[in-house]
Amino acid sequence: MKPGFAMHVATVFVIFVNLGLASSSTFKQRRLVAPETQHVLGNSISSHYRRPSFPVPLVSSGSNGPLTGFAAFGDSYSAGIGTGVNGTEDDCRRGLGAHAELIAADLRASQGGRNSTAFQFLSCTGATTQQVLSGGSDSQVDAFNASLPADFALLSIGGNDLGFFDVMNACVFRFYNFYSGTCETALANTKAQIESDDFDQRLQIVISEILDKVRWEKKPWFFITVTGYARFFNDVTDECDDMSFGVWWNGPKLKKDLRMEMNAMVLTVNAKIRQTVELVNSRFTKDKVIFVDYDSEFDGHRFCEEGVQEPDYGRTDTWFFLVGGPDNARNGTRPNRVPDLETLDPTSPLADPSSCLEPARRSGDWGMLALCYMAMAKHRDPSLQLARGDFVAENSMWYVPTYYGKTFHPRSLGHEAMRNKIYEAWRALE
Ligand SMILES: *[C@@H]1O[C@H](CO)[C@@H](O)[C@H](O)[C@H]1NC(C)=O
Ligand SMILES: *[C@@H]1O[C@H](CO)[C@@H](O)[C@H](O)[C@H]1NC(C)=O
Ligand SMILES: *[C@@H]1O[C@H](CO)[C@@H](O)[C@H](O)[C@H]1NC(C)=O
Ligand SMILES: *[C@@H]1O[C@H](CO)[C@@H](O)[C@H](O)[C@H]1NC(C)=O
Repeated sequence: MKPGFAMHVATVFVIFVNLGLASSSTFKQRRLVAPETQHVLGNSISSHYRRPSFPVPLVSSGSNGPLTGFAAFGDSYSAGIGTGVNGTEDDCRRGLGAHAELIAADLRASQGGRNSTAFQFLSCTGATTQQVLSGGSDSQVDAFNASLPADFALLSIGGNDLGFFDVMNACVFRFYNFYSGTCETALANTKAQIESDDFDQRLQIVISEILDKVRWEKKPWFFITVTGYARFFNDVTDECDDMSFGVWWNGPKLKKDLRMEMNAMVLTVNAKIRQTVELVNSRFTKDKVIFVDYDSEFDGHRFCEEGVQEPDYGRTDTWFFLVGGPDNARNGTRPNRVPDLETLDPTSPLADPSSCLEPARRSGDWGMLALCYMAMAKHRDPSLQLARGDFVAENSMWYVPTYYGKTFHPRSLGHEAMRNKIYEAWRALE
């Protein structure tokens, strides 16, 4: 247990400004409301979206420099992998459509377009709690500059700690073909990880370290918004029983049982995160952390929805990425250019099967792992056929890690829904 953590437990007179007590006029002045124009993007899907506002009183940190700010921590669900980049994608595969970016844009707009928002986007694809915690070479908490204004933080973490990639690999894609391990084993490992106290404790320390770094006792309004994950499948439809997302010919079918088990895994992870958040809050007189469960927003937008033939690359209403599938950003919101991505050497299309696994594992990046396992599978059995070779051949991006890494991650419309659910939770704090 870290020293800062014990301190939280010991400090009982925490004065946390009740977010609802916003009656004084100074308080009202500081209250920031995103202008309505921000979301008038007339579009058939717009009925899904509530108009966001900033129900949270954001406090000025001085007349010079940024007025307000926040930091986003965590994994690829926070980094927004696949949701568009301007120019070159960074190693963390942060996307312009990430809900954190959307919140930063709303915050800027709420300040009259002045460049007065300090947004520290620290989230990184592949991150586990270990990469967020202080001390490591790529620690997000250490990279967090607490001298910059930060009135709240966003955090998404857990999927990589708990082995989501192994489950995807073993149960759905089978990048390493026969050697991918059984789905039952992968699910059982995730279950065991959830049941052990390990993740729970690391998440508590992550939260404590962020609170310590901002010196929460001096910033009573500061709070952390933690998000979970969304169930991937509609698990009652019949059609998908015969469909497959497997990367190689004759891959596993998306049978109802499998879809149910994978959905159950997500719900269990969400429940675990919520429980940890509640435990942390119980040590404070006022909640420091809120858990936002956006899962139900994805109803109707998962894989295997009624009448959908998977993989359906043309369905805008699916809010998760397919392998190599396009994003579903609203038309006109972002330049629709192909990013200058860092690619693997196209002449040796897949990664080097003899040496790729160690660095891929270290990065935790699903895309690097997928490409490496595919290279290893092909090396062991050169006659292997891709399930959708024609699709791959038409897509020049297929050897880019993001092509695989973004699968089962929210697309841009999913991130909008996440943002909206976060705003709804903030409003409920009032
Ligand atoms: C993309 O980057 C270019 C050059 O840095 C900049 O001029 C442009 O405004 C950026 N576009 C967006 C949408 O951020
Ligand atoms: C906005 O401010 C940041 C630092 O606070 C600076 O790096 C950036 O260049 C500024 N952008 C513009 C458009 O002025
Ligand atoms: C943190 O931000 C402050 C204020 O902008 C800046 O002066 C300082 O150089 C930053 N520190 C680091 C390590 O980047
Ligand atoms: C963007 O336009 C295309 C072509 O009209 C359409 O198929 C797609 O659904 C649109 N995307 C969104 C998010 O509305």
